[in-house]
Amino acid sequence: MNNDIKAVLVTEDEINKLCKDLGNKIYNDYKDKNPLVIGLLKGCQPFMSDLLKNINCLCEIDYMKVSSYCGTKSTGSITIKKDIDADITGRDVILVDDIVETGYTISCVVQNLMQRGAKSVNICCLLDKPAGRKKDVVIKYPGMCVPDEFVVGYGLDYNEKYRNLNYIGVLKEEVYQK
Ligand code: IMP
Ligand code: MG
Repeated sequence: MNNDIKAVLVTEDEINKLCKDLGNKIYNDYKDKNPLVIGLLKGCQPFMSDLLKNINCLCEIDYMKVSSYCGTKSTGSITIKKDIDADITGRDVILVDDIVETGYTISCVVQNLMQRGAKSVNICCLLDKPAGRKKDVVIKYPGMCVPDEFVVGYGLDYNEKYRNLNYIGVLKEEVYQK
């Protein structure tokens, strides 16, 4: 698995620091709001659990699964594959995802949650790949920017693999050109 990685982009220590900083910021903004933290499966998984450990106030969690990706390219339309259980009417929502690239996925989800009566929806994502942006998105809690390369690890996959890497790395082109 590690042999398929061209370069390490974010180390485990750097990830821990990002989770701490983002969690503290969210805590400061939401400590009296009982926010609903919604993770987008499956990519949010390790990030969501490390982030939550640093949001030291009352909050609730839920998950949604939407798809917009096929291989290494975003398709531009989403399908809800698993919906949240909670009623989000009047709730302050924090939407957690692994990476924002085109912005299609996250902006469709924000729109969907607002239409369903959320009071506010803010985005927290570990990685931001601005080179691929097609839709304007305000990321209130961004982790770090990454270059225009396909990255895997810490939740991010290529065809469902590499999510279990404890760092984020650039996948060798030859792996997805096979
Ligand atoms: P967007 O609609 O293009 O913003 O797609 C965001 C989603 O695409 C993320 O939640 C990931 O699942 C996936 N994605 C975007 N870039 C990468 C990448 O470099 N590696 C792995 N998945 C990615
Ligand atoms: Mg994703």
